[in-house]
Parts: sequence; structure tokens; C-alpha cells
Amino acid sequence: MSSKEAVLAILKGKIGTVVSGQELSSKLNISRTAVWKAAGALKVDGYLIEAVPRRGYVLLSLTEKLLSSEIGQRPPGSFGHIIHHFEDISSTNEVAKRLAQSGGPHGTLVISETQSGGKGRLGRTWRSPSGGIWISLIARADIDARDGAKITPLMALAVAKAIKWATGLEAKIKWPNDILINGRKVAGILTEMAAELDRIDFLVIGLGLNVNFNRSNLPKELCDRATTLMDEMGARLDRAAILRAILSEFDSIFARFLKGERLGLTAEIKEISATLGQTVTILSGSEEVSGKACDFDDLGGLVIEQFDGKRRVVHSGEIV
Ligand code: BTN
Repeated sequence: MSSKEAVLAILKGKIGTVVSGQELSSKLNISRTAVWKAAGALKVDGYLIEAVPRRGYVLLSLTEKLLSSEIGQRPPGSFGHIIHHFEDISSTNEVAKRLAQSGGPHGTLVISETQSGGKGRLGRTWRSPSGGIWISLIARADIDARDGAKITPLMALAVAKAIKWATGLEAKIKWPNDILINGRKVAGILTEMAAELDRIDFLVIGLGLNVNFNRSNLPKELCDRATTLMDEMGARLDRAAILRAILSEFDSIFARFLKGERLGLTAEIKEISATLGQTVTILSGSEEVSGKACDFDDLGGLVIEQFDGKRRVVHSGEIV
């Protein structure tokens, strides 16, 4: 543990109470100057720390940033056990892919407070203002390349469970990758993969979840169809707690998937699907497929019963 982490741990344990510089320095066996430097570094990280003359330091509030000091140490090998945090990068998916290409291990988590070039599906941009959860995870596992499309709904399920835990709100999954609350999009998932022959080398699972900002911060054309957790709840939420919940849920869902527990997972995904049972038109490439969305197939494709009664499976595209 660094001096900064150690000072933070003590101050967190006595939040709102002045802790003397002498106490910090003797408990941690570091100089008073090192304590002062650590307090300064914590302020830069966004912790509200006051130095009270001749008395010591008091932690008044935690940082709003998604720093590893707020997410906490995750079990070895789990999602988020290695964290790369940035203030502003172009795209967490791009950084995660670069890390993965140079050997970044399974479970690596890339977080950015804002993204200047966030990527959405189908070549779109993803608006990523401050206050959202913009993350990408590296996953390495023995997965058939054809199963790559199944990972997005698994993450969607994890996010829906975490939202339910944090807010009580019922999130629904709109095929293939949108998470809706009360019919409006609150999150999107962009899964990218590198495969050799038929085995996946690595997956990068990118999640954008609108949390602590107002949807009026989004471009006009998105604003009407989007929402944020803050808009839904009328209050700011603890982003670190939500991220921790997403990581834990995804850990257990991914483990169930690798164990082959496909039926149970598909049943859970179906239960919160906003798409099944609906009459839809899907734009898949240049083709339009219309009919009733009646099931998911084994590979995560959407089964459509067309108006002529014939069934078609669509593996990619979007509902128009
Ligand atoms: C979509 O609905 O179109 C998918 C949006 C995915 C956005 C997230 S934000 C974090 C990660 N990094 C990116 O550049 N994109 C994903």
C-alpha cells in the first residue's frame, strides 16, 4: 500500500473527524512531510480534505471519481482486479484493445471519466460526458468465436441486475445491446473481439451507462430516447457502488456461462427482454426483416416469425 492509500484508509475510517499529522505519521511510520504530500495528492484525486492548522487533517467527502481507491481491491483474476483509470481518453475500448494486444490479462478494467471519441455500435459515436460509467473489460477465455455474440447479453444482464440493486428500477434489454428504463436507453454495450481461426483470443466488452448527468446534456436527437439513472431517480447515485455491483454480477454470470449454464442464463435474459413478443422490423445489413420477435437462438440471434409464418434468425442489426 502506498503512503497515499494508507493515509486515505485512516482518514476514511474517521471521516469528518480531525486526525493529527503526528498520529498519521507515527501510525504509518512516514514523515510529516510525506503525510502532507499524500493529503495533497488525495485532494488532486478529488477527495475533500481540509488541513486544520495545528490540529491535522479531516476528510470531509470522498471523491466522485471512479478511482481504484473507491472501487476497492477485487479478487485476483476477477473482472476489475487490474484497473487503468483515465481522466479523458478517446475510447476505453480502443485503450483496452491495445492493452489486450500487448498481453493485458483477463479481467483488466479500463475506466475514463470522459471520452472524447466514445464508440457506439455500427460506427456511431457515443457521447460520454462526466458523470457516466464509461468502461471496457478484457476477457480471455476458451470461447468459440461463434459464441462471441452471446457476451453482450450477458453484460446486459449484469448491468440490469446492478441497476435493480442500486435503484430498484426494472431495466429491460432491447436486442441486441441496449438497456432501457421506462422505454428509454440508459446504457449501451459494444463488444469487440480478436479471434484466431475459430477460438477467441480476447474480447473487449465496452459499457456506457448514463448515471450522474441530465439527459439534456446529450444531443437533441438522442435526448428524447435516452435517460440517465439520475433523471430516473431524481438524485445523484454512487457510481463506484454501481460499478462494483456490475463487476460482481458479471463475474458470476461469466463464470456460469463458462460452466455451460446456458439455459438458466437465457431464461433470465428472456425474462427482462424488451424485444420478445414485440412486432419488430430489423435492419440487418441492407436487408429489412419484419415480424414477431419470438425467441433467441443458441448463438444469441433473434428469432423472427415473419408475417408469412416462416422463421428467420437475425444475428446482427438493429430494431428500426
Ligand atoms: C451502443 O449502444 O451503440 C454501444 C455504446 C457503447 C459505449 C461504450 S462507453 C465505454 C466503451 N468505450 C467506447 O468507446 N464505447 C464503449
